[in-house]
Amino acid sequence: MTLGKSITKAVIPAAGMGTRFLPATKAMPKEMLPVVDRPAIQYVVEEAARAGLDDILMITGRSKRALEDHFDREPGLERALELKGDTERLAAIHEASELGPIHYVRQGEAKGLGHAVLCASQHVGDDPFAVLLGDDLIDEAEDLLTTMMEVQQKTGGSVIALIEVDPAQISAYGCADVSAIDGEDFVRVKSLVEKPSVSEAPSNLAVIGRYVLHPSVFGVLETTEPGRGGEIQLTDALQTLAAGEGEGSGVYGVVFKGRRYDTGDKLSYLKAVITMASERVEFGEELKVWMKAFVS
Ligand code: G1P
Repeated sequence: MTLGKSITKAVIPAAGMGTRFLPATKAMPKEMLPVVDRPAIQYVVEEAARAGLDDILMITGRSKRALEDHFDREPGLERALELKGDTERLAAIHEASELGPIHYVRQGEAKGLGHAVLCASQHVGDDPFAVLLGDDLIDEAEDLLTTMMEVQQKTGGSVIALIEVDPAQISAYGCADVSAIDGEDFVRVKSLVEKPSVSEAPSNLAVIGRYVLHPSVFGVLETTEPGRGGEIQLTDALQTLAAGEGEGSGVYGVVFKGRRYDTGDKLSYLKAVITMASERVEFGEELKVWMKAFVS
């Protein structure tokens, strides 16, 4: 019985090729693109750590060594900063290496998000676990992941995060058909479809990159055929769980109304960087003054 087992594991898929950011990502993982002064992936690992997930598995692939280096110690650099007495920068580089041990497994072949998650099965074993996608950054002040973990513990199923989008944008996301549950502030997911056309979409509720999954998803992923884009889709496996019965089936949704930053394409990445920079105490106000002058 998985219900009630505490959740300690986070899986962070980071094997994608980053084609939307070429040429920047020709020789550098897209997860390393800086958002103000930290690589995007660091925000995601910090979010997992804040939610109490202390066992982190990153799914990487070829040309992703920079990720491992970033979260590792760098004794040469540490010594140089110590000698200079630069305690501020020393603390900044320690932040990344002190996020706890991170485990890595390589995906080998880019066969889709569902396949990337399946690569975590041996490490995760028989416990519910979280999945965090690096293209979505959730504001530090939000506790989305904790809420989702509570819903998983309560329902014993799998939990997805949903946002309402402009109906014209739904084809960029997984889309959920949901129904309300009496007395609860989360919803039951009746069905899911990956990146439907606007006319096929059952709602304007889009799946964003946070999941808390029952381990039965692994068995389902093993038999999930390639779907949209010829890739093994996590959405398709969740659709099977939503339609199924018995232990580990059932999918629930938390409709998120808080602040989220999308770094998935160039324009939204730029907006995310500007928004987050404008909130930094060190230079946010100065930046806003400059931006006003710039646009006028
Ligand atoms: C993936 C999922 C999709 C989800 C999206 C959220 O798509 O397959 O269902 O809506 O993440 O960011 P991707 O953006 O990797 O194509």
